[in-house]
Amino acid sequence: MLILDAPAAMRSWSDARRARGASIGLVPTMGALHDGHLALIDAAAARCEEVVASIFVNPLQFNRPDDFDTYPRPLVDDIEQCRQRGVTAIYAPTQESMYPNGFETFVVPGSLSEPLEGAGRPGHFRGVTTVVAKLFHAVRPDVAVFGRKDFQQLALIERMVTDLDMGIEIIGVETVREADGLAMSSRNRRLTPSQRAAAVVVPAALDAAAAIIDAGGASADTEAARRSAVELIAAEPLARLEYLEVVDPGTLREPAGPAQALLAVTAVWFGDVRLIDNQLISGLLHSADG
Ligand code: PAF
Repeated sequence: MLILDAPAAMRSWSDARRARGASIGLVPTMGALHDGHLALIDAAAARCEEVVASIFVNPLQFNRPDDFDTYPRPLVDDIEQCRQRGVTAIYAPTQESMYPNGFETFVVPGSLSEPLEGAGRPGHFRGVTTVVAKLFHAVRPDVAVFGRKDFQQLALIERMVTDLDMGIEIIGVETVREADGLAMSSRNRRLTPSQRAAAVVVPAALDAAAAIIDAGGASADTEAARRSAVELIAAEPLARLEYLEVVDPGTLREPAGPAQALLAVTAVWFGDVRLIDNQLISGLLHSADG
C-alpha cells in the first residue's frame, strides 16, 4: 500500500493505474477511521480494482478553530486499518500541498447548502466542496463513496459532480450504527462515558419521528412528528438541540405537499461535541395509497 502526500504524486500514480486499465474508487475521509469508513472502503472495493482512501483534516470546512484543533488524528492506526482492509493507496496530502500560499479559488455550492448544517456552520460546505473537488482532481476516480450520515454533504457533492460535469459516479452508503443505534462518527470518541450513554437519544428521537410519519403515510403530521422528537431530546439533560427538522430529501426544505419520502435530520450537542444524524422515511405515497 502506497502513501502519497501531494497532488502531483497522487495524480501520476492514478494516471499510471488507469493506463493499465484499472478502475479507481476514492473514499474521502478526515481520518479517525471507524466501521462506517470501512463500509465505504468495502463499497469502493466491490466496484473498483484500486481503492484510494484520502485522509486530510480540511481546515476550510471547520468554522470553529477548537473543533479543528481537537479533531482526532490517529494516523498510524488509520494507515493500519486501511492496509488490513485492502486499500491500495492512501492519499494524505500535507496542508501546504493542498493550500499553498496564495490559494484563493473555491467551489461555492448553491441553495442546497443553505438550510440545516449550512445555517449553523457558515462556510462549512464551501470548504467541503472545495476540498472534494481538489481530491477528485488529484485522484481522478471513476467512483467516489460517501456516507449517508452526512446526507446534505452527499446531496451537495452529487449536485457539484453534475453541475461541473465531473463524470464521477457517486455512491452513498448506509449509516453504520453502534449496537444501541448511535451513528458511528469520528467525534463519538470525544464523548465522556455519560455523554456517550445519553447520545442514544439522537437515533431514538429520529425513530420516534419516523414512527409517527410512517403511521400517517403521505399526509402525516410532520410538525407533530418533529415536536415529539424535539421533546425526547429536551428530556435528556446532557443533550442540547441545535436543530431537528423533517424535510423533503430532494430540496432539504419543508415539504411543499404530500411526499414520497421525508428526511428527519438533526444536530445535537453533548458538551462541546456536535453530533449529526438523519433518517430517511420512504414509500409514503405508496403506504397512503394502501
Ligand atoms: O465527510 C468527511 O469526512 C469530509 O467532509 C470529507 C468529505 C472527507 C471532506 O473533507
